[in-house]
Parts: sequence; structure tokens; C-alpha cells
Amino acid sequence: MKSSTSIIVFLLLIGIMASARSEKKIVCYYGSWATYRNGNGKLLVAMGGWNEGSENYSRIMKSYSLRSTLVKSIINFIQTWGFDGFDLDWEYPSQRGGSSDDYRNYISLLKELRESSPRGFIMSAAVGAATYLISSAYDVKNMNKYLDFINLMTYDYHGSWDTVTGHNAPFSSLDNTVSTWIRNGASPSKLVLGVPIYGRTWTLSNSNSHGVGASTSGIGKAGRYTLEKGMMTYLEICEEFHSFRDWAKYWDNREKVPYAFRGNQWLSYDNVQSVQLKAQYVNENSLGGIMVWSIDGDDVYGMDDENK
Ligand SMILES: *[C@@H]1O[C@H](CO)[C@@H](O)[C@H](O)[C@H]1NC(C)=O
Repeated sequence: MKSSTSIIVFLLLIGIMASARSEKKIVCYYGSWATYRNGNGKLLVAMGGWNEGSENYSRIMKSYSLRSTLVKSIINFIQTWGFDGFDLDWEYPSQRGGSSDDYRNYISLLKELRESSPRGFIMSAAVGAATYLISSAYDVKNMNKYLDFINLMTYDYHGSWDTVTGHNAPFSSLDNTVSTWIRNGASPSKLVLGVPIYGRTWTLSNSNSHGVGASTSGIGKAGRYTLEKGMMTYLEICEEFHSFRDWAKYWDNREKVPYAFRGNQWLSYDNVQSVQLKAQYVNENSLGGIMVWSIDGDDVYGMDDENK
């Protein structure tokens, strides 16, 4: 009971703002780990989908009685606080300490939640972009049946875990994720495309070799508020560009995303232009909407010089 309660609290702290009534959905995750930041990173709440892991979810989903306690608690919490629905952000079924039963139990939870919930209750889930997850974690057809929409976390395709530079959210990769979900039974109108409002950083092995796929000596520097090596929020990126005018900025025409380098630091990110193109892709492919991870990293002070 104690553990299931803490999971519910975490899930709701994600703070989804979505309207099922409007034609296209705009989902703005508020990263709960923003609470750890100092200074202009200014922000609140506790814990996140990634940090929560998979083990406890897996354990609870396995047992019918724990699952039904969870379902009751979710519905009770949502009605008490006047939320419109529930977003499941289990990262990820069958992975990271999860078990192979998760594939089936995940759907059992969705089904039981749907059957016990009041009319108009919105149900969504955030899912990993890696297509191999479809065979082990996600029963796409049944997810499509029970969920109102599915938030594709179409980012983190490349990061400091790679030994060469790469784009965080390139077009060819996100297009592959979207088409794989559709091919496996997702309705395009239920798919919500994730857009990162953060970039990923590397340290180059040799600052003279600074293209996409350049060799790196490791993780890149941290942002000044998030203090986590290897990534920077868009706000931090804008401030960085503002403070150091010698960042060299490039646009990858094939992948439709920008990247930049300065000295031995290499940065993959999204800007207004790449986000516009992603929104256009959502419209052209009649997807359900767009999701951002996460609003607490946005350029709230209008520091972006590129669009002035
Ligand atoms: C899993 O649950 C246990 C207690 O039930 C808790 O101590 C632990 O912190 C949880 N793990 C995570 C990653 O939240």
C-alpha cells in the first residue's frame, strides 16, 4: 500500500496538461526533478519517470490485488484533486529491473483502470522511442484500445552514452518510431510526438573534428542550473549562446535539427525552427498532437537570439 501510494504521487507530479476536447493535443511535462535546481532554474516538485525505475512497477503489476489497490488509489487521487485523467510513465515495462510478464500486466492495468474509471476519464501513457521495446514492453494494439493517447518520447536517440556525436532527436529516427507504432496498430490520431526542450552535450576528442559522428572523449558539460553533465535545457543553451558568442552553429538539412560546437564542447539540440518542422510533421501525418519534455527547461526569459 505504501509503495503504491508513492508511485501514484510520483505519477501525478508529472503534471500533464492536456485537453482531450481540443483537436490537437499539447502535452507539457513538467520535469519533477526541476526541484533540485538553483538560481534561474527556479523550480519545483519531486522525482521522475526515469529515476523511478521499473522494478516496483513490475512487482505491483504482477499481483491482481496490488493492481486493484493501485487502480482505486489512482481514481481516488484524481477525483480528490480534480484532475482530468492519468498518464502512465513506467520506464519501461520489461526493462531496467522489470520482467517479461510486464507486457501482459501493463495491459491488465490499463483495462482494469478503464473499467473502473468514470466516463470522460482521460488515460494516456508515455512510451520509450526505441522500437525494440515494441516486442518486449508494449502491446501496441491493446494500448491503442485502452488509451486516449500515447506520448512518444521521441528523443534521447543519441547521447553521451554513445562514443561519437549524434542528434538527440533527428527526423529519420523519430519518423521510424512513428511509422513502427502505426504499423503495429496505433491510430495516428492517438500518437503524440515528443519534442525535447533540452540538448545533449559531448566533449570532442579533437576540436578540429566536430561534425555529426565525430569521435568524443566523453560526456559534455552540464547546464548551469540543471548541473547534470551531458545535457542542457533550452534555457541554459540560450544563456550559453548569449554568454559565449563563439559557439559555431550548424543546421543538419537531412535530419532537420541544429547542432553547435565551441572549443571541445559539442551540443545537439532543438530550436524554434526544428520544433516548427516537427509540428508540421504532426499535421502532415495527422498525428494526435505534440508533447514537450519539459516545460521547466524552456526559454522563459526570451534569451533566444536566433529569432530576434
Ligand atoms: C521501491 O519500493 C521500495 C519500498 O516499497 C522503496 O524503498 C524504493 O525506494 C522504491 N524504489 C524506487 C526506485 O522508487
